[in-house]
Amino acid sequence: ETHSLEERFQAYVDAENKVEPKDWMPEKYRKTLIRQISQHAHSEVVGMLPEANWITRAPSLRSKLILLAKVQDEAGHGLYLYSAAETLGADREDMIKDLLSGKAKYSSIFNYPTISWADMGAIGWLVDGAAIANQVMLCRTSYGPYARAMVRICKEESFHQRQGYEIMMQLARGSEEQKAMAQDALNRWWWPSIMMFGPRDEDSPNSAQSMKWKIKRKSNDELRQEFIDKTVPQAEFIGLTIPDPDLKWNEEKGQYDYGEINWEEFYQVIKGNGPCNAQRLAARQKAYDDGKWIREAANAYAEKESKRKAE
Ligand code: 3HC
Repeated sequence: ETHSLEERFQAYVDAENKVEPKDWMPEKYRKTLIRQISQHAHSEVVGMLPEANWITRAPSLRSKLILLAKVQDEAGHGLYLYSAAETLGADREDMIKDLLSGKAKYSSIFNYPTISWADMGAIGWLVDGAAIANQVMLCRTSYGPYARAMVRICKEESFHQRQGYEIMMQLARGSEEQKAMAQDALNRWWWPSIMMFGPRDEDSPNSAQSMKWKIKRKSNDELRQEFIDKTVPQAEFIGLTIPDPDLKWNEEKGQYDYGEINWEEFYQVIKGNGPCNAQRLAARQKAYDDGKWIREAANAYAEKESKRKAE
């Protein structure tokens, strides 16, 4: 019997094939991927701001070099991902406009302030650690260009995570003040980091369809649990305490039980009411305005070039 285009698409995806830009795809598949990939790109670009705050304040030339390299990597991740979204027909200008107008989201985690050098450690260790859990999974996403971008990004993320953990280890093994700084950063970044994985599965409107289309290969809660189970021993190894009194190893489940997440805070932050949302968008708006002359010059040059070639 004849199968509908949707049924053939689903069978293609179920057989673990990669969907490529020129393949037929359900409009909703295209739309949800543009939503997720463009917001992933926005997250990388906005994510440069909290760390940029410390490039001029780094405690040594070595730590400045490492942080500079990491922030430059994030810019590159943003460019890969905007390009991946463009293969689905998304327009770069529209995506940027949606970010600046507040219409598009970016990862909640980047709306928190970075108030000490230890925050650079906590961000590399926890935020990039969470990113690795999420992005290793996305290497198996059904859309080809997105999966391939992830392979490249994951290689750089492991450097990001290791350098962050090294900062935390140095501080935790340093003076009492340094250890207190590291513990204070862990206290402020732990809960926002586990919120990064998104709402609970039962509260996640996109998950069911994204799992069916193999865009999402593991659920929000699965990845959150994976991250917690991997990270708790790392905190213990450097003598830091996770700020969750309900955190407890569950022998028969073979994983950690953890306390209730403050979902009110999560939804406030993604609605735009986090500590730094206005500051982050203002910085992106300024970058966009300051970059106007560069875009105009590049367009003028491109126009002249195409005229010259046409002669
Ligand atoms: N920050 C901001 N918005 C978030 C969020 C977060 N941490 N978690 C979920 N949301 C939003 C979703 O975008 C969705 O809103 P939308 O429909 O307007 O886009 C809504 O909350 C409901 O969440 P769902 O679980 O239904 O949405 P998804 O199925 O898209 O899952 C996601 C959310 C796991 C973040 C998924 O979009 C994803 O894997 N995105 C790619 C990864 C990414 O964007 N990372 C940002 C860079 S930082 C990083 O990679 C670490 C982190 O991903 C663990």
